[in-house]
Parts: sequence; C-alpha cells; structure tokens
Amino acid sequence: MTSEAPPLFEDPAGTWNARYEGSEFRFGTTPNAWLESHGSLFQPDQRVLCVADGEGRNSVWLAGRGLEVDAFDIAEAGVAKARRLAVERGVKVNCTVSDCDSFTWQPRHYDAVVIVFIQFADPAKRARIFANAKRCLKPGGFVAVQGYTTKQLEYKTGGRRASRTCTRKRCFGRPLATCRSRS
Ligand SMILES: C[S@@+](CC[C@H](N)C(=O)[O-])C[C@H]1O[C@@H](n2cnc3c(N)ncnc32)[C@H](O)[C@@H]1O
Repeated sequence: MTSEAPPLFEDPAGTWNARYEGSEFRFGTTPNAWLESHGSLFQPDQRVLCVADGEGRNSVWLAGRGLEVDAFDIAEAGVAKARRLAVERGVKVNCTVSDCDSFTWQPRHYDAVVIVFIQFADPAKRARIFANAKRCLKPGGFVAVQGYTTKQLEYKTGGRRASRTCTRKRCFGRPLATCRSRS
C-alpha cells in the first residue's frame, strides 16, 4: 500500500495531445504575462530551460530575446506546434518530447529554468521538478515559477480544481531550500 495520492491524469500525454489538436494555440502565442513582466531577468546569451512548455509561447519568446533555449513537454502535439512557432518567428528552440521525470536534467547547465503552470503535478511530482530545476542551475542561476494559488479555485477560470496542485510558498521550501525568493 502507498500513501501517495493517485495521478491527476490517467494518460497525461493523451489528454494534452487531444487538447492541442487543431491549428489554434490553446494558450496563445504571446508569452505568459507574468513571465513577460519579469523580462528584465532574462539576458541575451543566457541558457534557459522551459519546463512543460506546451505549444512554445514562452520558449519562443525567450529565444526571440536572444537566449539559448531548451524546452520539453510530454505532449508531442504541443512540441510540434512549438517547433512550428519557432520556425515562423525565425528563432531556434531545442524542443523535446519528454515527461518531467524522464527528462535528462543536466546538472549546472542553465542560467534559468522557467516553470509556468504545472497544475498537472501533485505535490510529490512538483517537489521533484523543483529539485531537478535547482540541480540543473549554474551557480547564481534562478528558477522562475508562475502558478495558481488556491484563490484560483474560487475564480473557476482555468487550471485544475484541486488545491494540492496549487502553488504556495511552502511548496518551494525543501526542494528550493538555499534559494533566495522574490515575487
Ligand atoms: C497548463 S499547460 C502550460 C503550458 C506552458 N507552460 C504554457 O505556459 O503555455 C501544462 C503543460 O504541461 C504538460 N505536461 C503535463 N504533464 C507533464 C509531464 N508529466 N511532464 C512534462 N510535461 C507535462 C502538458 O502537456 C501541458 O503542455
């Protein structure tokens, strides 16, 4: 018997591939607003990893700012669109199809890791993502995380309706211990 809660999706890749069917971009082609508002953190020639990058709106934007960008997502359909968007915008993003637990997180490799909306992750998976993100940072690097707090559950405008998938400050505690935080 295990005390771990059941996975949130039976078939995450299948679920997201279905959501990304068609030519429309589910989350648009402009970057996440919070990420864009923190654009000054990202400098040309930095190497950045975009986790669960979906259809590429964030990775392509970062590549357009002159960063060297790696990205991955579990959904092949999302990655295919991200690749197309990069070509359309004339930028290079190294996109791979991968689950966050099987991705090769290269230690001390990135100046920044970008994590935007990972409500797919239960607390245990989220802790592994944060720990891997920290491990693959170069000294002085940073992790940029955008997520819903439990307030989002009241709005009912998107994201999963499960408080365990929401991001609270305490989520960062152990995996990102020793990191300084800023909002
Ligand atoms: C809410 S979307 C956010 C996409 C992107 N970060 C953005 O801001 O547009 C969540 C993404 O997580 C991806 N995903 C779900 N489970 C995953 C897993 N286990 N490993 C990697 N990616 C996953 C989905 O395919 C989807 O693209």
